Parts: sequence; structure tokens; C-alpha cells
Amino acid sequence: MTTVEPIDAINYPAARGGCPFAPPPAYQEALEQRPVTPVSLWDGSRAWLVTRHEDVRSVMGDRRFSADARHPGFPFLSDGRRELAAQNPSFIRMDDPEHARFRRMLTGDFIIKRVEALRPEIQRIVDDFLDRMTAHHPPADLVAEFALPVPSLVICRLLGVPYQDHDYFQERSRILLHNHSTTEQVRQARDELALYVMELADRKEWEPDDRIISRLVARGDLTREQVATMSLLLLVAGHETTANMTALSTLALLRDPVQLARLREDPTLIKGAVEEMLRFLSIVQTGTVRVAVETAEIGGTTIEPGEGVVCMLSTANRDGAVFAAPDELDLGRDARRHVAFGFGVHQCLGQPLARLELQIALETLIRRLPELRLAVPVEELRFRTDTVVYGVEELPVAW
Ligand code: HEM
Repeated sequence: MTTVEPIDAINYPAARGGCPFAPPPAYQEALEQRPVTPVSLWDGSRAWLVTRHEDVRSVMGDRRFSADARHPGFPFLSDGRRELAAQNPSFIRMDDPEHARFRRMLTGDFIIKRVEALRPEIQRIVDDFLDRMTAHHPPADLVAEFALPVPSLVICRLLGVPYQDHDYFQERSRILLHNHSTTEQVRQARDELALYVMELADRKEWEPDDRIISRLVARGDLTREQVATMSLLLLVAGHETTANMTALSTLALLRDPVQLARLREDPTLIKGAVEEMLRFLSIVQTGTVRVAVETAEIGGTTIEPGEGVVCMLSTANRDGAVFAAPDELDLGRDARRHVAFGFGVHQCLGQPLARLELQIALETLIRRLPELRLAVPVEELRFRTDTVVYGVEELPVAW
């Protein structure tokens, strides 16, 4: 055990630097110099930033660290987030056995075999949105016309949510995921979304189907609020993440002609390429937080009960102890040890779906549009730095 010297805490979240794909320089410095480092949060409170691959897995895989935001000391990113966690938390903010009880109700829907059966449908959806995008003259915004609608339609179909309502829930889920949304905005967005899903659940009582919401209702052991909370978790997690990964991966490929050519020449690389892009881009930039409920030692630092911990997936995924030349995008490397989907009991439930969507979307995009290119200088792109999920606001492309 090392004694902690009183040093200045870095601000969390920290600003990103020049490279749009790299984690904030302050976190990268921490990875090299002080892998478990104190950070100062928006309200002046302190937490620990854990940056190494090994340490991130230790925290996320250890029951002495709780994901339950009702514990004192839980590190919130804003008042709005505190509000969100306080009311009807979803199982991402619960510990076992409570967490496992809810998660088990959904695991069957996301096992690889079930998800693989969706391949033809996802391919049709991908082709369909690409047809629509290319039906008009370039340029087009790849985010609005392709990256967002594909996962959005897929998750709507799985849940049994009418896709024509997507504007309504996309606007509100953006508010939930934005770091600077006020408490009032968060409360309103959350209440409106919950009401929307509860009304939908009521309808499923009389007009059942074989989709997730209907099946949760039919169980009979969940309250309407519980059905709404679980469905909203899937709805929000299910499209923002994959959408941002699709757009950002496309940008990363367009910025790296050698890697793009490699993938075009050998499309069988796509599975590994998606893993490498998950590692390289690590889009979940905030939110993977825990609070210690027992004393624990991580990377030589003692963390006491009630102290918050921020697990930095992006630096863990660029830890040179695990990945050689970690700052290079190398579509041929074996990146499967990445933690872009988290680690431990909360590891992403939707990862088989996210993987399949990304593989199909990116493979189809580069196959069908061999001349795909950015339609604006990269300096003009606006990046989503103040949200849980990193990405690009718009991606104007030509083909
Ligand atoms: C590229 C896309 C995605 C990324 C990078 C991603 C990342 C993550 C991460 C890092 C976590 C762990 C959070 C934590 O431990 O605090 C997580 C959890 C979760 N994700 Fe994803 N996700 C993606 C796509 C999806 C999709 C498509 C769905 C649903 C259809 C989904 C549903 C969930 C759920 C329900 C949890 C909570 C699991 C639990 O607490 O047991 N995710 N995701």
C-alpha cells in the first residue's frame, strides 16, 4: 500500500485535446503517472479516477464497489443526474441480487443466438436507410440519415415501440444523457418518457404482442413503473450508443485511408475491426461510476467506504500494458480484451446486438459507397463532449 500524497485533483470531466478520438490528455497523464488519481467533481466533491485496464476491471468486478446511487458518496456528474438516480432507478444503478433479478428478465432477448437471428432484418433496415440517403444528391448528414435511425428502428422493433414516435423519445433521451441538463429539465424529460412508456404498456395489456414491453407486462409481477424504467433503459442505451459508434467509426475510417483500404480489401476483417473501433473510440466517456461500500485497495491506493470511483474506460482501452501501440487504430489486432462494454455484472446487456448492428452498418456502408468521403473539413465538425456518450453531432458526407 502506498501513502497518498496530498496533490491537486484534476477536474472531472476534463477537456479533450487535439485528437478527437483520444481521451482527455489529463486522464492519459494520470494513466502514466498516477493511475488512481483524485478528481474534483462539479460540486467540489472528490472521487477517485481509475485509469489502468487492470484496475478498472478490479473495481467493476468487485462487490465492494456499488453501482447503487442511493449509497452516500456516490459520485454524480450533476444535480440532474442525482435527480435521475434518486427516483425509480433502473437496474444499471442496482447491486445484486436486486440487479440480477431484473437483468435476468431480459438476458434471453440479447443472447448471441437470438440476436444473430435478427441479421436479415437488420441488413434490410441498413439497406433501406442507405437507399433513402443516397436517393437524393450528396451531401447528407450520416448521423441523422443513417447512424441514428438504424439502431433506433431496431430497438423500437424489439421493444414494441412505434418508430414514428422516435423524435419524441430521442429529444428527451438526449436531455437525460447531457451533462449540463438542469434538474428541472431532467425531471420533466424523465416523467414524460415514463408516462409515454406506461401508456404504451397499458395498451399492451389489451393488445399484446411478442415484443419485450408486452412480455414484461404479461409477467404480472412488475409494476408499471418498473416496466417503464426497464424499457427506458433499453430505449436510451439501445440507440444513442450504437448511433454514435457508427458515426464516429465512419469518421475514424475516413481519416485513416490505410485502415479503410484494408477493410475494403478484406471485408472478413469486419468483426475484429468493430472490436478495435470499440477499443479505440471508447465512446462511453462518463457514467461508469461506483462508490466503495467497504475498504478496498486498488492499484496500491486505499479507497474507503463512501468514496466515489470513476472508471475510465477510454484510458483502460489505451493501456500499453495490454494493447501494444495503443494510440494506433489497427483493424487487424486482437482487441477483444477491451472494456468498451464495461466489465463485471453490469457489463453491457446489449453488446451482441451492438456488435451485429455495427458490423452490418459499417460493412454495408463501405461496400455500397466506395467513394464515401467527408463533405466538410474535419475542423468544422462538432463533437459531443458534454454527454455520457461521445460522438459527433453531424457528419456531412458525400459519395
Ligand atoms: C456500441 C454500443 C454500446 C456501448 C459502447 C455500450 C456500453 C455500455 C457500458 C460501458 C455499460 C456498463 C455501464 C456500467 O457498468 O456502469 C453498458 C451497460 C448496459 N447497456 Fe450498453 N452499450 C452499447 C449498446 C447497447 C445496446 C444496443 C443496448 C440495448 C439494446 C444496451 C443496453 C445496456 C444495458 C441494459 C446496460 C446495463 C446492464 C446492467 O446494468 O446489468 N447497450 N453498456
